[in-house]
Amino acid sequence: MRGLFVLPAVALVLAACAENGSPAGRGRQVYLAQCTACHNSDPSRDGPLGPAVKGSSRELLEARVLRGTYPPGYRPKRATAVMQPMPQLASALDDLAAFLR
Ligand code: HEC
Repeated sequence: MRGLFVLPAVALVLAACAENGSPAGRGRQVYLAQCTACHNSDPSRDGPLGPAVKGSSRELLEARVLRGTYPPGYRPKRATAVMQPMPQLASALDDLAAFLR
């Protein structure tokens, strides 16, 4: 009988980890929800619209995601300006940077 109660508890804990676990885990959730329409779900590869973003620094993410700009002196991978700024993601930047590191 006891096993029947343990299973849902394990499922709950796993769900909680996926949602709120490590910064990189949270960053992955944000990335999959907000970025993979254009970028590859594997950030080390080019996506349907956007380039590979693995290794993006927090500085680059802050400039590109929040303001639609690039850090001073940075050479963008693409000369286009398709991606719109997403200032609503300010609180998720640290997590995104942890995931993409
Ligand atoms: C509407 C499609 C789209 C979405 C959504 C999108 N991007 Fe982009 N992204 C692009 C494109 C296309 C580029 C190439 C430059 C351009 O045209 O804007 C780019 C460029 C970038 C760059 C600069 C890469 C470099 O080194 O030059 C980063 C970093 C980046 N995206 C991160 C993200 C993150 C993180 C998200 C989710 C929060 C995201 N993008 C969401 C399309 C998108």
